[in-house]
Amino acid sequence: MHQNSDSGHHKKILIIGLGQIGHSNAEYLHSLGLQVDGFDISEKAIERAIYEGVIDRKALSFAGYDYYLICISTHQPDDMFTPYDDGIMEVARRIAKEGRQGSLVGIDSTIPKGTSKKVLEVLNHRMHVVHVPHRYYGPEKQNHGVNQTRVIGGCESCCVSEGKKFYGKILGIPLHEVSSIEVAEMTKIVENSYRFLEIAFAEELKMVSESTGINFDELREAVNTKWNIKILEAREGIGGHCLPKDTEMFLSVAKNALNSSILSTAKTVDHKYRSYLIHKAMVQQ
Ligand SMILES: NC(=O)c1ccc[n+]([C@@H]2O[C@H](COP(=O)([O-])OP(=O)(O)OC[C@H]3O[C@@H](n4cnc5c(N)ncnc54)[C@H](O)[C@@H]3O)[C@@H](O)[C@H]2O)c1
Repeated sequence: MHQNSDSGHHKKILIIGLGQIGHSNAEYLHSLGLQVDGFDISEKAIERAIYEGVIDRKALSFAGYDYYLICISTHQPDDMFTPYDDGIMEVARRIAKEGRQGSLVGIDSTIPKGTSKKVLEVLNHRMHVVHVPHRYYGPEKQNHGVNQTRVIGGCESCCVSEGKKFYGKILGIPLHEVSSIEVAEMTKIVENSYRFLEIAFAEELKMVSESTGINFDELREAVNTKWNIKILEAREGIGGHCLPKDTEMFLSVAKNALNSSILSTAKTVDHKYRSYLIHKAMVQQ
């Protein structure tokens, strides 16, 4: 097969962090016939990626790559609800030490506002830095996987143009470019905070309904017949690591601008809802 110089087939790519999004990135890149190595602090994650054939090999060093995709977790190791950027900074220091000038560092992980510029500083702008937050949704990875529309922001204009070449041309991802990397950072945080808010409202509505003799499901179904309303389901509380952690990232930005945030109340509602479910289960036993 003829490969033109824009295809990226002669380039070396390293995916750092082979969990849910790193693995799915590797799978996607591999399906495009690209040369992909992987690195993770977990040997198990590396073994899985090799076993499933989504990476070519485990990277023994960070030297010699054209593209680095950072896909590591950004919550504290012992507390998945608290944001943490030590891992990203550690990876940046290693790329700064071993990587070559002019390569691209793409941050796919969700990060607190200001992190990308800190990474650029560690790299001394020898490498380009873009943030292309992931919107991966496993159950619908065909439509909402790696190559759905993604937001891209860069630290400098040269970073944006290198980022667009890689994510847009080589990976074929439809990109929505924003004017600063901070907007890109905030995009993902806002998406998940907004989702948090919507779920918390459904939880509140369920508690209110059930304590006032109204059937929540029936009320929700009726309200959702209006064209511009979509009340979500209320399930077991707001779980996973993304929504609570990313809402904390939003709150730490909001607290500098406002004294209060609607999201603090949403967190309280979610706590109340969890206690409510426990109480309900005990009464039903
Ligand atoms: N899972 C999703 O659906 C999803 C969607 C969008 C964004 N995100 C974001 O993507 C990031 C990763 O999420 P995930 O679900 O893939 O997490 P995950 O826990 O499944 O995987 C993270 C991987 O990173 C590795 N890791 C952690 N620190 C490392 C380090 N310093 N060096 C190398 N490897 C390291 C871990 O061992 C793990 O294998 C998070 O910031 C998350 O908020 C996740």
